Amino acid sequence: MKKLATFRARRWLCRSLSSISSNPLRVCVVGSGPAGFYSAEKMLKAHQQAQVDIIDRLPTPFGLVRSGVAPDHPETKIVINQFSRVAKQERCAFFGNVTLGSSISLSELRELYHVVVLAYGAESDRSLGIPGENLKGIHSAREFVWWYNGHPDGQNLKPDLKITDTAVILGQGNVALDVARILLRPTTELATTDIASHALATLEESSIRVVYLVGRRGPAQAACTAKELREILGIHNVDVFIQESDLLLTPADEEELKSNRIQRRVHELLSKAARSKPKHTSLNQRELRFVFFRKPNDFQESKDRAGHVSGVHFEKTVLQGVSHGKQIAIGAGKFEDIKCGMVLKSIGYKSVPVHGLPFDHKKGIVPNDRGRVLSDPSDPLVPEKGLYVCGWLKRGPTGIVATNLHCAEETVSSISEDLENGGLIPSSTLPKPGRDGLLQLVHDRNVRIVSFSDWEKIDSEERRLGSLRNKPREKLATWDELYKTTSQ
Ligand SMILES: Cc1cc2nc3c(=O)[nH]c(=O)nc-3n(C[C@H](O)[C@H](O)[C@H](O)COP(=O)(O)OP(=O)(O)OC[C@H]3O[C@@H](n4cnc5c(N)ncnc54)[C@H](O)[C@@H]3O)c2cc1C
Ligand SMILES: NC(=O)c1ccc[n+]([C@@H]2O[C@H](COP(=O)([O-])OP(=O)(O)OC[C@H]3O[C@@H](n4cnc5c(N)ncnc54)[C@H](OP(=O)(O)O)[C@@H]3O)[C@@H](O)[C@H]2O)c1
Repeated sequence: MKKLATFRARRWLCRSLSSISSNPLRVCVVGSGPAGFYSAEKMLKAHQQAQVDIIDRLPTPFGLVRSGVAPDHPETKIVINQFSRVAKQERCAFFGNVTLGSSISLSELRELYHVVVLAYGAESDRSLGIPGENLKGIHSAREFVWWYNGHPDGQNLKPDLKITDTAVILGQGNVALDVARILLRPTTELATTDIASHALATLEESSIRVVYLVGRRGPAQAACTAKELREILGIHNVDVFIQESDLLLTPADEEELKSNRIQRRVHELLSKAARSKPKHTSLNQRELRFVFFRKPNDFQESKDRAGHVSGVHFEKTVLQGVSHGKQIAIGAGKFEDIKCGMVLKSIGYKSVPVHGLPFDHKKGIVPNDRGRVLSDPSDPLVPEKGLYVCGWLKRGPTGIVATNLHCAEETVSSISEDLENGGLIPSSTLPKPGRDGLLQLVHDRNVRIVSFSDWEKIDSEERRLGSLRNKPREKLATWDELYKTTSQ
């Protein structure tokens, strides 16, 4: 009885708190990608008196929807309209050019806001940890994607696509397929997309004719999805090569495929492609070669160009079951080289911690219980008060845009539960400075905030420049250009 009364009293307190407009629930979301925007949207809807500020280290919002999704996938970017409507809500504000970890620390942010939701994604790369990984000509897919998508930190990559006719891509997920498609697709088809102009110019002069997509496991385990595979197999000037013998299924593969419809479809598409004859339709014919059961052992250095990659030394693999439905690649002790002048490592993104944030380095995520940050993962009953996580930082670097919607629903429902049951009340009953405190603090540090209306200036300038070239937009791809446009 006493428990119920306490619960009701807390619930009342929580509701009253939410209805006092002079003391709104101050929420800060870090990161303006899908996880950030979906969290903001759900918070605004669930808590009518919540005020939500979204900060991002870039002057531009939308995370990987802008700087990850491929330029030839415009339909995926339509979600930006929904995110823009969220940013323009009265109780929401976007503050670009504010970096958690340098403009403001995590402890400062937690002092300013009742609730902090970390949704800053995964801005680093898994590494292979094998000899030669630092040779010139080897890039992570993330860097390459930033480069062709006009991310201001991707401008300096300047990949040399003229010194070689062969590129090796390590990994067979959807990002690997994206970068392979950008290398292989006729540039006439890319010219009317929002690809960065520096990338288009480099691709127009590219001498790459052969692209290898190399997986450490087999075609039954390829990490890509059917729609994306069908798209690359359908590029009209590309011949596809797959060894039919690689497609033979072991009983363990059959077992895996039984429970996975997407992988079954992928396997069917690869089998069909292996049987089809090369098209040889144009003079500008290119080759896409799928290679399975090979794991990179080391990178070889060119004899003519010191410090530059000239090939990848692979170890053949066999698969071994570790648990039901899960086979891993084991080195078979036999080796083989593929000569190439460029390597793109597409083996997954990696999140990085900021000071003071609990972090599981092995999994590359913030330990959490349904979005509640845990300093001691073995004790989910004691989460960090007011600190939550969402998106790739919460789950690891997998999932499509829509996956983050469900992820945000989970995180926001944890926040709501904590508000209802009193977990947040002792601190949230006190007024917090929220937005005013943030603005004062970053102003004192000479950080130049980019508001959503500043972003709209960038947006309209990009659209204007794009219209001159029959493109949906011409991205401003340097920090200087971005800043200049916001101050006009
Ligand atoms: C190359 C690529 C292509 C993809 N293509 C598709 C596709 O076609 N369709 C699809 O459905 N999904 C696609 N995805 C998946 C989708 O983009 C992700 O699921 C989604 O973007 C993850 O959302 P997030 O908000 O967790 O991270 P992100 O989208 O990465 O957003 C993180 C945000 O945090 C900001 N940030 C980083 N560090 C800080 C900091 N210290 N302080 C402040 N802000 C910071 C970043 O600038 C960024 O805006 C793709 C992913 C990649 C990598
Ligand atoms: N169009 C779209 O919808 C789209 C486009 C791009 C990205 N995305 C999504 O974004 C997410 C991230 O994509 P992703 O391609 O970066 O990741 P991913 O799907 O996890 O693929 C990673 C690939 O790297 C391989 N790999 C990992 N470690 C390796 C190592 N040490 N050596 C060799 N190979 C290694 C994996 O092989 P194993 O399987 O053997 O581990 C796998 O082939 C995915 O969920 C993807 O679907 C979607």
